[in-house]
Amino acid sequence: MVKVGELIANLNFKVARKFILHILLISSSITLIGTSVQLSMDYSKDLETIHSTFHQIDVSYRQSITNTLWVSNIEVLKIQLKGILKLRDMQHLEVVLEDKSRIQVGKPETKYVIKHEYIMSKNFGNREIHLGVLRVTASLRGVYRRLLEKVVVILLIQAIKTFIVSVAIFVLFYIIVGRHLQTIVRYAKSFSLNSMDKPLRLRGYEEKLDERNELSILVHSVNSMRNNLIREIEKRDQAEKQLQESERQLRLMFMEMSAGFALHEVIRKMDGTPHDYRFLDVNSAFEQLTGLGRAKIIGKSVQDIFPYVEKQLIDTFLEVAISRVPVSFERHVKAVGKHLQVVAYSPQKDRFAVILLDISKRKKAEEELAKYRNHLEEIVFERTMELRNAHEKLLAAERLATLGKVAGSISHELRNPLAVIDSSAYYLKSSIKSPNQRTIKHIERIIMQVKHSTAIIESLLDLTGISAPNKEKLDLVDLLETIVSRVMIPKTIDICKKMEERIFVPGDFRQLEMVIGNLIKNAVDAMDNQGVLTLSAQTSENGKFAEIAIKDTGSGILPEHISEIFKPLFSTKAQGIGFGLSICHQIVDKHGGFIDVTSEPGKGSSFIVKLPVYEEKTDG
Ligand SMILES: Nc1ncnc2c1ncn2[C@@H]1O[C@H](COP(=O)(O)OP(=O)(O)OP(=O)(O)O)[C@@H](O)[C@H]1O
Ligand SMILES: [Mg+2]
Repeated sequence: MVKVGELIANLNFKVARKFILHILLISSSITLIGTSVQLSMDYSKDLETIHSTFHQIDVSYRQSITNTLWVSNIEVLKIQLKGILKLRDMQHLEVVLEDKSRIQVGKPETKYVIKHEYIMSKNFGNREIHLGVLRVTASLRGVYRRLLEKVVVILLIQAIKTFIVSVAIFVLFYIIVGRHLQTIVRYAKSFSLNSMDKPLRLRGYEEKLDERNELSILVHSVNSMRNNLIREIEKRDQAEKQLQESERQLRLMFMEMSAGFALHEVIRKMDGTPHDYRFLDVNSAFEQLTGLGRAKIIGKSVQDIFPYVEKQLIDTFLEVAISRVPVSFERHVKAVGKHLQVVAYSPQKDRFAVILLDISKRKKAEEELAKYRNHLEEIVFERTMELRNAHEKLLAAERLATLGKVAGSISHELRNPLAVIDSSAYYLKSSIKSPNQRTIKHIERIIMQVKHSTAIIESLLDLTGISAPNKEKLDLVDLLETIVSRVMIPKTIDICKKMEERIFVPGDFRQLEMVIGNLIKNAVDAMDNQGVLTLSAQTSENGKFAEIAIKDTGSGILPEHISEIFKPLFSTKAQGIGFGLSICHQIVDKHGGFIDVTSEPGKGSSFIVKLPVYEEKTDG
């Protein structure tokens, strides 16, 4: 049962109040209208009663009053009038006689009255004698008072009735509808995702859901809505869980993938032109590749992070984000100092993702391979050249050996006859008593040619008879000074010496003297008595080699002769045999060194003899 307290507490139940107010208004209006009708009917009835009283006076009293007047019995007349006055609503009666005298009863009134007049006359013979006028005044005050009393009673009764009915309606409305509405309101107010476990229940309606009245339909609808919602939420929860799981998997994959991954968003200027991009997300591999932490780059633009990033790279990525056409390229990214394989694609407009693979190791391996390949080619070339040189040397050695044998036997056979010719020529020159100039000239020519022939034979013997050097510690400065003093150098040639440091080489003094002497002779020959001869000695290759340079400002060597000059018997000189440089080459070679030549025709030549420097023996 509904508790009274609960009922009172819910008196501010607005729907009920509104409902009751409407009932009150309607019932009051009806009461008012009913009362008005009733009053108007009562009023008409009272008026009718007054008129019927007037008629009754006419019918019942007028004759007797006329008779009383006829006999002029005033006392009786007054009694009669008083009798009439007692009739309902009669206020005042007045008889006006012919002489204008008046007999009246009651209190005269002018307001709220109805008046009626009766002519009083008597037939006497054939004449009608006028006796006077009876004026009857009926008061309406009694009518009004009665009406008022009625109104008061009616309204009082109606008010009490309406109050009782309203209270009854309120209680009934509250019991039947109001409390359930409040329950529904409370249920709806507290309805949330966390409190959906309880269905809506209305007291007194639980078992009667199948009755299908409006409330039970409402309860049923709310509960089925709740069930649908629960099902939907369960479905959504399930989907959300699946989504979270796949997101977790993707995130894990994203973070753990070995390739660097970064998602970017295009930044546009005010006029809409794209000009930069900002980092939205990066994975761990990206952090490792670039050396930049997530926290430092997320939300920042690439130009904030790499102010000197190549503009062309930014443009390439912006193009991908706008055209949504993926690109792939390999590039050495200066900003991170690595070779990267870059794949860029756009997952949605104005965004692009970049996948980076560090290919620095591969590139390095490729470069090393290329280097090694080139080096291999160099090695092969060097070996080929060495082989060719060795072959040439072998050929030259063979040639020299043959030449040596020939030279040995020829020189043996020719030396004695040449010595005989030489001494005979001297004898002839000194024994002829009066020789003419012509004879002397011819004898001297014989002596000259014998000398030349002897020189050729000696050179041949030098060339073919170079033995293994007898090495000793030689001071290069001393060596050069000695040679310069021994070689014939015309005074017209300036000699410039650059020998500041003391350099020691292991060498055969006589053989090296032959080398430097031959080179100086060639330089002097090339300068034709004027020019500068520069002699210098220095160390090279971290002190491992000594370099002796003989430089002249002479005629120079034609490029096509450079490869020929070290071959025996190559000479461009009228008196030259072409053995000098061959001997130099042989000797230097036997000392573990080599000769280089640079020359410019018309400007001069430079011969550099490289010899290993002397190393003190430390092992005792
Ligand atoms: N300093 C130089 N300037 C210009 N040409 C040179 C120089 N040294 C050598 N030559 C050229 O190299 C050739 C060969 O020199 P090499 O010393 O072997 O023979 P030669 O000087 O001609 O004769 P030989 O030395 O046997 O008397 C020379 O004939 C000359 O053409
Ligand atoms: Mg020479």
